[in-house]
Amino acid sequence: MDKLIFIVDDEPSILKLLTHWVRNQWHYTVKTFENGQECLDSLDDHPDLILLDIMLPDIHGNEVLKRIKQYNENLPVIMLSAQGSIEVALDSIRQGAFDYFPKPIDKNRLEPAIKNAIQNYDLHRRVNQLTEDLQSEYSFDNIISGDRKMQDVFKLVSKVLNNDITVLINGESGTGKELVARAIHYNGIRKDKPFVVVNCASIPRELLESELFGHEKGSFTGAHQRKIGKFEVANGGTLFLDEIGEMEMSLQAKILRVIQQKEFERVGGNEEIKTDVRIISATNRDLKQAVDDKEFREDLYYRLSSFPITIPPLRERRGDIVLLVEHFLEVFNKKLGRSIKGIGKSTLKQLYDYDWPGNVRELENTLERCMILTDTNLIMPDSLPPQIKESEGNQSIPANAQLFTDEAPVVPIEKLKEEAVKHALKVTNGNIVDAAKKLKVGRATFYRMMEKYKMESKKD
Ligand SMILES: Nc1ncnc2c1ncn2[C@@H]1O[C@H](COP(=O)(O)OP(=O)(O)OP(=O)(O)O)[C@@H](O)[C@H]1O
Ligand SMILES: [Mg+2]
Repeated sequence: MDKLIFIVDDEPSILKLLTHWVRNQWHYTVKTFENGQECLDSLDDHPDLILLDIMLPDIHGNEVLKRIKQYNENLPVIMLSAQGSIEVALDSIRQGAFDYFPKPIDKNRLEPAIKNAIQNYDLHRRVNQLTEDLQSEYSFDNIISGDRKMQDVFKLVSKVLNNDITVLINGESGTGKELVARAIHYNGIRKDKPFVVVNCASIPRELLESELFGHEKGSFTGAHQRKIGKFEVANGGTLFLDEIGEMEMSLQAKILRVIQQKEFERVGGNEEIKTDVRIISATNRDLKQAVDDKEFREDLYYRLSSFPITIPPLRERRGDIVLLVEHFLEVFNKKLGRSIKGIGKSTLKQLYDYDWPGNVRELENTLERCMILTDTNLIMPDSLPPQIKESEGNQSIPANAQLFTDEAPVVPIEKLKEEAVKHALKVTNGNIVDAAKKLKVGRATFYRMMEKYKMESKKD
């Protein structure tokens, strides 16, 4: 926790005293300056806090403050001043100073103020970092595909980033509908505002309405207090209505109204609440068919589907399997702390022949499971679940996939030892003395190994 503090004051005695406290007693790293310009010239050293005198020989403290804030608005500055004028103090606070100390400086109050300011700044930086991570997590680079049909999807997506058009994403379960919706949000003009998901299939009808619009206290049994709905939470951002095809007709009418009028009422309330959200919805149903079957409102359907994007199922882009396998191997190697190199050719063939009704999600889960089950650095067909291991087809696999060799798997030594003990016991009919002799180890060692691998001998 080596934090750097700038102290700026033209009075040597004060500079000395402050340095003594901050460096020697509170153990921060300190740099001192006798005027404002030198401090401004050193901002690239990335101080974590600045203690700034207001009366400086060259530039007025509040002007220095202003320029620091232009450089980095989150960097905390604590002002110090001899003249106890409340006006000047207020002025600096208005300009973004973290705190203000009249001289003589109250040491007992300064220490916690410094600590607070630095903690605050750390928190700011962490939140910024997280936001950046989140945005890069949903960048297009993380949507893996080399397929022509998917490139068309990306082209469509790029057309809706900088506008608010209502998007309907269609695709079978696990094809990446939510991933695409997030990519639209986090690469679009609303990226700094919330992305809010509502799954219309997993919430019962009565609750879904209040989930979306909120409710007033006492509006129904159990409504003990006012609740803000997702349309309010998402204000300024994007509302992702997942599984929209499962929404009831009566609720569909209300959604239509919000889209058209950009306002709604909470359940049990009569105040009109304005909302500015971009709506992206997704479904694995054929919504047009649902309209024909009178299960989905036609007017809402046309509203939602002004810009439809359809994600093809994995079996229609099998070439992506090899890319996704590489991608997920990397992801899960990191997550599981493994260093699995790849999958055998025969395993890849099985993956190509399978039809993947659960699409990319199923492939992702399958690979994670295989990697957990595999002791070697190569995934072989025996770790595949039965329905995939037994799938038959005539798909050809890419010949040049480098990761996929059928070389003999490398087995960890412990595994070999276990096999050796098991085998020795088998050929000696469970006779420990003979088995130990065959392996050329002492009897005690052999016992320890048996215990370790939880084996039992045939007692005679
Ligand atoms: N092209 C892709 N590249 C990398 N990962 C993908 C891709 N498509 C999907 N995934 C991953 O597959 C999983 C399922 O994706 P997602 O949840 O977006 O699908 P979905 O269509 O919303 O599924 P469901 O209908 O089941 O809700 C996620 O973990 C996602 O990260
Ligand atoms: Mg989904």
